[in-house]
Order: sequence, then C-alpha cells, then structure tokens
Amino acid sequence: MKQFKSSAWLLPQPVLIIGTYDKEGKPNAMNAAWGGQWDMHEIIISLGSHCTTDNLAANPEFTVAFATVDTMVAADYVGLVSGRNTSDKIARTGWETVKAPDVNAPLFKNFPMTLECRVKEKINESDSGYYLIAEIVNILCDEKYLAADGKPDVERMNLITFDPVHNGYIQLGKTVGSAFAEGKKLKS
Ligand SMILES: Cc1cc2nc3c(=O)[nH]c(=O)nc-3n(C[C@H](O)[C@H](O)[C@H](O)COP(=O)(O)O)c2cc1C
Repeated sequence: MKQFKSSAWLLPQPVLIIGTYDKEGKPNAMNAAWGGQWDMHEIIISLGSHCTTDNLAANPEFTVAFATVDTMVAADYVGLVSGRNTSDKIARTGWETVKAPDVNAPLFKNFPMTLECRVKEKINESDSGYYLIAEIVNILCDEKYLAADGKPDVERMNLITFDPVHNGYIQLGKTVGSAFAEGKKLKS
C-alpha cells in the first residue's frame, strides 16, 4: 500500500451550496465540501470567514442545495469568488432565485433538492470561522425528481461529489444495492 500524509481526503465529499441573505435581503451563495450529517435533524459545516458567515451573523437562516452536473460551473464559481467583493455574484450564476418558503434565505430553483436550515450552534468560533451546527427545518424537492414512492429520487438528480484528491467533481452513479439489506446475505 502506498502511504500519504494526513489530508482532508474523507471520501466522498458533498458539494453543498449555502444560500444566505445579507441584512438588506440580497442573496449570496458559497460552495462547501466540508459538511455532513450531525444528528437526525442537524447538519455540520466547517466554515471559514466569508460573506456567508457575515450574512449568518445578521440572519441565522440558510439553504443548502446539492450541486448537480447542470449547476457545476456556477457551483464552482460561488466557491471561487466572495460576495464581499463581487456585487453581481448571484446574477452571474444565472440561478433562478426566490425566497425559501420556511426560512429567511434564498432558494435557488435550479437545484433538485434543498434543505432549509437554521443555525443552532457555532463551535470553536474565532476570526477565521467556526463549525456550524444547524437544524434542518424543512426539505424541498422539485416534483420532477420524485420517485414512484413519492420520495426524492436521488439517482435521477445527477448530483456531483467533490474529489479532494484531484480537486475534481464526480457525478454520482447508479444504485447498486439496498442498505441494511445486502449484508443480510452474509448472516447465518
Ligand atoms: C469545491 C469547494 C469546496 C469548498 N468548501 C468549503 C468549505 O467546506 N468551507 C469553507 O469555509 N469554504 C469552502 N470553500 C470556499 C468558499 O466557497 C469560498 O471561499 C467562497 O468564495 C465564499 O463565498 P462568500 O464569501 O461569498 O460567502 C470551498 C470552495 C470550493 C470551490
């Protein structure tokens, strides 16, 4: 086995688009890969100091959309430039932006699925950022992406994941099995 020094190589990583309003209600978005589930109804995101954190200080609600092949270019763009110094950041994405129904945050309608979230706790807060714990208030899914059972059809969303090894975006593939079920084949 070849060995590598410690790196942020947990695989696979999500491509989360965090949508916030500033104190005047202007929408912003940023890309975050260092995030995950924290508890049944809560998520965690590792945040540096950004326009997004300025916005969350003024208004602790936000959206988290899952990036797709179709939204990839703009999803990467919002991770490259800051709303602090790019006044037309959201206009350049071309995303259709409306207010989310249950939180005071922008909903970008180009994404199949979006979490509506509220800040619950900031861990290790300093000038350089914090670990954000947030409650999932509600989940929105474009009806085009519902499966026959009425739940979101993740396989059809063309979601992308972040590959931190080569700084790539990789498209999610096919369902290959059923969780909590396949392993039963090895039970006696
Ligand atoms: C693929 C990718 C992943 C990123 N992941 C994170 C992350 O997990 N946490 C973070 O604070 N910044 C992350 N960033 C950087 C922010 O998205 C970037 O600094 C952005 O410009 C902040 O925008 P804002 O200042 O308008 O809020 C990531 C950027 C990219 C391209």
